[in-house]
Amino acid sequence: MRYNTLKPRGIREWNEKKYALKLYFHKTSIFELCKEVMYGGKDLPGNSYGIITSCAGSLKSYNDKKPNPSDPGRVGQIFFTSLEERLNKDFEPFGSSVNMTMFFDEPYSEFYFSVPEKLRSKFPKPRNGHVPIDPTTSSDQIHYAMLMPRGAKFETVREGLDRGRIDQKFYYLTPESAQHWLEVVDSPEYPQYEECKAALECFLQDKVWQEFITSKNFGGIVLLGAGAASKDISIIESALSNKLKNENEPALYYTLIDFSNNMLHASFQEVDASLTDSGQKPKVNLRPLVRDFMDLSGTTEIIRPSGKNVAWFILGGTIGNINEEEFIQSIRREARAGDLFIIGAETVGAETRETMRDLLVSKYKNTAVRNFVMAPLRAAWHDLQIGGDISRAFDKILVDVTVGKENIHSAVPRAATVELSVMSSAKGFAAFMHRVMGAPRLQESKDNRKIVLLTSTRYDEIELVRFVARRGFQLQETVTSPLNSLYKQFVFSLLPSGKI
Ligand SMILES: C[S@@+](CC[C@H](N)C(=O)[O-])C[C@H]1O[C@@H](n2cnc3c(N)ncnc32)[C@H](O)[C@@H]1O
Repeated sequence: MRYNTLKPRGIREWNEKKYALKLYFHKTSIFELCKEVMYGGKDLPGNSYGIITSCAGSLKSYNDKKPNPSDPGRVGQIFFTSLEERLNKDFEPFGSSVNMTMFFDEPYSEFYFSVPEKLRSKFPKPRNGHVPIDPTTSSDQIHYAMLMPRGAKFETVREGLDRGRIDQKFYYLTPESAQHWLEVVDSPEYPQYEECKAALECFLQDKVWQEFITSKNFGGIVLLGAGAASKDISIIESALSNKLKNENEPALYYTLIDFSNNMLHASFQEVDASLTDSGQKPKVNLRPLVRDFMDLSGTTEIIRPSGKNVAWFILGGTIGNINEEEFIQSIRREARAGDLFIIGAETVGAETRETMRDLLVSKYKNTAVRNFVMAPLRAAWHDLQIGGDISRAFDKILVDVTVGKENIHSAVPRAATVELSVMSSAKGFAAFMHRVMGAPRLQESKDNRKIVLLTSTRYDEIELVRFVARRGFQLQETVTSPLNSLYKQFVFSLLPSGKI
């Protein structure tokens, strides 16, 4: 097979450049990047959502093609014209400039070295640029120490597979996980990140939140699950603008918890860069905690150093990937009366199982999700003799939706769970079960065996509220996303004990 390596058709090293732009503008998704570059600081026109969505769609295609400069009305072209203006406004005071032709055709390292030295730390170093470590690195560039309990041990992919169950944790534990997660966020079939962020923005402006953070009992914020730096930035900005108007206020305690170092690091890099740029860093005490949030015992000193009330957030539908009972009990053990507990989740509408299935097939059967689930399994697949070629097996990812009593994945009644699975040959799987799990050796069979890769649950609104309320929390309000009426932030507070 011959490859044409000479002339890339799209923007050269576009993935690396896209990531650099997101980091520079402190944006997690391509949608947010488009919004910032095209409208940053300006009023949004009425049709802006459509324009930004279309621009984000174009930006996703620039690995294979370049924006067409002879068509200045196209959103992709408008994005790059605005980008050139924005970057030059920042670069020119230092005597340098950038032009988009160079940006499209030259490697990322060329662009990086055209950035004025004073601003270079805002961009990631080129992957292959052999950039020497700068001995004058300022303390601004030193990141926070990750907090990790002594003796903490995290399961490896191999250990998890040996248990015979593919746990969603593994998808976040590979070195590529943060990148793969951002690709999922950016895929057109996955609008949930923006939907959740829009509902969050509404909540951050409402009375329940404003009263909570301005109260004298407010003692910090805890984010359960990284991977959403722009949501962290919005929450921090809202707390700082409301609470810390007074110079003498103590720093805001903001703890971000994730068992994945990679996910935590990626989020902290973005949040830290944003705080450094806005000069707000001294006002925030960021605490990245490597920990499984299914058991937070012993973390009170970190999470609640002042002993006052904290707000717990679990956003982006993460609750739909985990055991809800275990999770709510874990928070219930650590929460104090008066704490807020905010759960971002998608609810089920009136659609039939078939319609829901059709909708979800396209959402979950795309390249980004496929890369996301395949990465941790690739190494183990052949070793485990699961059978067949992994890429072929993943070409046939099955998407199913289980509802009601059939739904073994969720503890919440009437929930609908999407299940992603692949079929492996029964022979390979039986050999694996025999070798690793000590199962009896099976006769060779033509039947295939299903391996569940990922589950994601959406909820009946009333049942979810009842489920959480029965465990001691009281619903304060639900905030609906302006982008999808089925996506909501459920806002609870913990009742004084005994009032369940
Ligand atoms: C779906 S992703 C990111 C969602 C993101 N927070 C949002 O709002 O869009 C879920 C994140 O939660 C983390 N996570 C999942 N289960 C966890 C657990 N039991 N303990 C700690 N982190 C967990 C994963 O590592 C991953 O970073």
